[in-house]
Amino acid sequence: MIKQENQKNRLLISARSVKLTIIAAFAVVLLVFVGQNAIPPVLSQSTSKKVAQGEVGQSCQKCHAAVVDAYAASMHGKSEKFMEGDRAQACETCHTNSAKHVKSGKKEDIADMAKLPSSEINSSCLQCHSQDKHTFAWQGGKHDNTKMSCLSCHSQHHSKSEEKMLARSTTEETCLSCHTSVRKAAFQRSTHLFRTEHGDMKVGCTSCHNPHGGGADKMLVGETINNTCYACHAEKRGPFLWDHPPVRENCMNCHTPHGSSNTKLLSMRASLSCQQCHIHMLPRHSTTAAKALDIWSLNRGCVNCHAQVHGSNHPGGRTLTR
Ligand code: HEC
Ligand code: HEC
Ligand code: HEC
Ligand code: HEC
Ligand code: HEC
Ligand code: HEC
Ligand code: HEC
Ligand code: HEC
Ligand code: HEC
Ligand code: HEC
Repeated sequence: MIKQENQKNRLLISARSVKLTIIAAFAVVLLVFVGQNAIPPVLSQSTSKKVAQGEVGQSCQKCHAAVVDAYAASMHGKSEKFMEGDRAQACETCHTNSAKHVKSGKKEDIADMAKLPSSEINSSCLQCHSQDKHTFAWQGGKHDNTKMSCLSCHSQHHSKSEEKMLARSTTEETCLSCHTSVRKAAFQRSTHLFRTEHGDMKVGCTSCHNPHGGGADKMLVGETINNTCYACHAEKRGPFLWDHPPVRENCMNCHTPHGSSNTKLLSMRASLSCQQCHIHMLPRHSTTAAKALDIWSLNRGCVNCHAQVHGSNHPGGRTLTR
């Protein structure tokens, strides 16, 4: 009797466990399916090994002690300590297929990462960074299209900056090493690239550009030029009772972004800038308001009177004089 009971129970249990197994199998299939969709394609192809925490550099320590020590202080080294799973960084995440080299200690048995083709370097870094806010637009961006790699600006072991692992001491030095023509802007009469007493650029290249690419033309951080400017010059956004159409259209109709030898970052003297579109106004002015004056060049030219050149909220501001 007891035996039979037991057998019955066992049968019940096994029936239950069959059900459980089926449910579990479903769950696994579901997880794998969801997982595959969530993991970026590069990651799922990656050959990188997962390395347990606390082991970073163990197999390299013997011969590269200095590199391993320095690594621990870098952002990636810290990530190994504090993060789990695929975002944790180990030597092997970047230096793949290192087993042979570890045994032989021969240079030929491991790739020199700096000499890999850009596409390989980039996909190695994008294993983890392809979903990040600042870097997700890299692919197809202007810098990507010129065959640059992450290592054109970043360095893992020879970084010269305090932050962001840059190959040069600052963001600006990094950019200006290639974009030499922008450098002069810092020394012009009017400039965005002015420095604080400590020599830091207050409005830096990355205030307006995302070097990792982005939706907008010229890799701007805003969707358009104007939106990029409004981020800091919000009062120019309006809305205005009396709009000045070229302002709404593009700030670059009158300004230049980096530096200018005219005041107020104007791309040409203010009066010339107005003349591009308003040359027909001269006769009207010489017979009315500005009769005796040289309206073009005296002092601030047209802006002497049309001071609200970006738009006016005054009921009588149609002609942007107030
Ligand atoms: C048995 C000693 C030994 C071990 C263990 C070792 N290496 Fe090396 N590694 C060397 C030597 C020697 C060189 C050549 C150094 C040189 O030429 O200055 C080298 C060079 C390298 C290079 C440069 C390759 C090049 O072409 O410039 C990389 C990258 C490298 N090692 C990574 C690693 C990593 C990552 C590990 C651990 C996973 C590791 N090594 C473990 C001895 C070793
Ligand atoms: C984020 C990717 C990455 C990680 C992680 C990484 N490296 Fe490197 N490694 C590089 C790159 C890129 C270079 C090429 C030089 C450079 O840009 O700094 C390099 C170069 C090297 C070299 C050649 C010598 C040199 O200084 O240039 C050695 C040796 C080396 N790595 C060892 C290691 C060891 C050991 C670890 C773990 C403690 C490690 N790397 C972790 C990317 C990485
Ligand atoms: C043209 C130069 C340049 C290239 C190429 C470049 N970066 Fe950067 N990156 C920078 C600069 C400059 C910063 C610092 C931005 C700042 O201070 O606002 C930065 C910051 C970062 C950050 C930190 C972002 C944050 O939110 O602070 C990550 C991550 C990063 N880069 C990854 C990459 C990866 C991955 C690649 C290659 C796909 C790459 N970078 C290519 C210049 C570059
Ligand atoms: C295994 C994942 C992984 C890989 C591969 C990887 N990173 Fe990172 N990276 C991280 C993590 C984690 C951080 C820490 C901050 C964060 O969560 O974004 C980080 C931070 C950074 C930062 C910001 C550093 C700072 O001071 O704020 C830069 C720049 C960067 N990585 C560049 C690179 C470059 C260049 C490569 C390729 C050579 C690369 N990463 C490869 C995981 C990775
Ligand atoms: C105040 C915002 C701002 C800052 C700061 C800024 N830029 Fe620009 N940059 C722009 C705008 C806007 C354009 C597009 C101009 C156009 O289309 O007429 C541009 C265009 C460019 C171009 C394309 C070629 C050209 O000259 O038109 C390069 C290269 C460039 N910037 C590099 C830099 C570098 C390097 C820095 C830092 C030293 C920097 N920029 C700082 C706003 C800025
Ligand atoms: C290794 C060299 C190099 C470095 C470093 C570099 N750039 Fe570039 N950049 C280029 C090249 C090449 C182009 C494409 C030029 C072209 O198409 O006329 C470019 C294009 C640009 C453009 C114009 C994009 C467009 O749509 O016309 C901007 C803006 C720009 N870079 C900003 C930056 C900023 C900001 C930095 C620093 C974070 C930087 N660059 C660092 C090489 C570099
Ligand atoms: C990151 C913030 C920031 C962004 C973005 C920005 N500016 Fe500026 N801009 C400043 C600061 C700060 C000053 C200096 C203000 C001062 O000295 O009172 C300035 C000054 C100016 C000046 C006056 C220059 C002078 O010599 O007096 C003009 C014109 C100007 N910006 C236009 C623009 C335009 C056009 C854009 C878009 C391409 C833009 N700004 C984007 C921060 C910014
Ligand atoms: C029709 C030509 C024109 C356009 C377009 C234009 N500006 Fe100006 N802007 C000027 C003139 C002229 C001055 C100098 C005014 C003066 O001398 O008082 C000026 C001065 C400035 C100044 C410094 C003085 C102040 O008023 O704060 C800023 C900042 C500025 N503009 C931002 C912008 C922004 C942002 C845009 C795009 C939304 C823009 N401008 C579009 C003509 C223009
Ligand atoms: C890119 C062309 C362009 C530039 C440059 C330009 N404007 Fe205009 N401006 C316009 C247009 C378009 C209108 C709208 C005309 C209309 O509604 O009939 C306008 C309207 C005006 C008006 C109001 C006229 C009216 O009848 O409502 C004044 C005043 C004016 N602009 C002054 C200036 C001054 C001062 C400058 C130089 C700082 C300047 N503009 C530069 C295109 C321009
Ligand atoms: C001495 C002051 C003064 C100067 C300088 C001046 N204007 Fe005017 N402008 C006026 C006055 C006053 C009006 C008429 C305003 C009204 O009727 O409300 C006017 C009207 C205009 C109008 C609108 C005309 C209409 O009937 O719709 C435009 C456009 C204009 N000016 C452009 C310019 C340009 C471009 C310059 C520089 C070449 C300039 N102004 C210089 C005072 C001036």
